[in-house]
Amino acid sequence: MPKMPTKTEIILAAEKLQQGGLVAFPTETVYGLGADARNGAALAAIYAAKGRPAFNPLIVHVASLAAAEELGIFNIAARHLATHFWPGALTLVVPRRVPCPISELASAGLATIALRVPNHPLAQQLLKQSDCPIAAPSANYSGHLSPTSAAHVRASLHASLPNIMVLDGGETEIGLESTIIGCLEMEEEARVILLRKGGVTRQKIELATGLPLSDLVDEGGGGDEGGSEGGSEAQLAPGRLTRHYAPKAKLRLQVTEPRANEALLAFGANAPPHAGQTINLSPSGDLTEAAANLFAALHHLDETATHIAVMPIPNTGLGEAINDRLTRAAKGR
Ligand code: TXA
Ligand code: MG
Repeated sequence: MPKMPTKTEIILAAEKLQQGGLVAFPTETVYGLGADARNGAALAAIYAAKGRPAFNPLIVHVASLAAAEELGIFNIAARHLATHFWPGALTLVVPRRVPCPISELASAGLATIALRVPNHPLAQQLLKQSDCPIAAPSANYSGHLSPTSAAHVRASLHASLPNIMVLDGGETEIGLESTIIGCLEMEEEARVILLRKGGVTRQKIELATGLPLSDLVDEGGGGDEGGSEGGSEAQLAPGRLTRHYAPKAKLRLQVTEPRANEALLAFGANAPPHAGQTINLSPSGDLTEAAANLFAALHHLDETATHIAVMPIPNTGLGEAINDRLTRAAKGR
């Protein structure tokens, strides 16, 4: 067994989260790469460290059901599942509260939020000590398997290790990611939808709820969605719940001369003069800042404009994921 982190190390890790840093930590399923879920720039750093070419929404870890209910809206089935399986290897996707303190980047612009109360003592201590909701995908580089030990984390994320504090809690107990269930409808007889198979079995869930678990059917959403990271993430079927955020407004990309009827989504120091509404994702041309602001800016412009012109954004680093989302948004649903 590795030496368990001391109280001092947990305090340091909590401070790192509060300051917008990244902490890899064990949960009972797999290790997560965590950041303060309210801090968009910290979440952008997660995507950068994972080398993900697209923004998949992240699971937000909290200490209790009460904390979860401040962020998402729970129907009867969701509350039942949470009471029965939390803390544990179950993630619930529910509607986000409005307003919600969690960065829109954690939801990748969707109106839903994935929530989990983990059962690992170190994860629990980190949540309590930091008092942060912690967004954490599996702590592996994109395309690698989910890590079940601190050694896996260090090997997979070695390029970013100088910026990541790794809490070593030994091997994870379950070794499979959490089961993800969607509870989005608010009616009495609402469906409970299996989005990803994982640590808690279908039989256990059906027994606990007394409801049959629907499998997500393909409703024509983006079939290339989700973490094609190998392992069980490939089972996350396309459909309504995983569809990309798409604005109502028409997007025009690579624009250097916006038209009078367009709102402008600008980037960098050379934004053209524009009389219409303008939001600059990062006046200094910082891609991390731009990623952190992307979904909130799109939502904001979408509320007021029918046409949005988007300036060119470099296709390097996080720019790749930003451009991926903008290209999809320009195509519409
Ligand atoms: O066991 C686990 O779930 C681990 C530990 C660290 O908690 N986390 C994990 O995270 O596996 P990640 O990012 O590797 O997988 C999360 C999955 C992704 O496939 C993502 O698309 C889905 O959850 N997801 C997150 N938010 C969602 C949402 N609002 N709607 C639908 N799917 C969502
Ligand atoms: Mg993963």
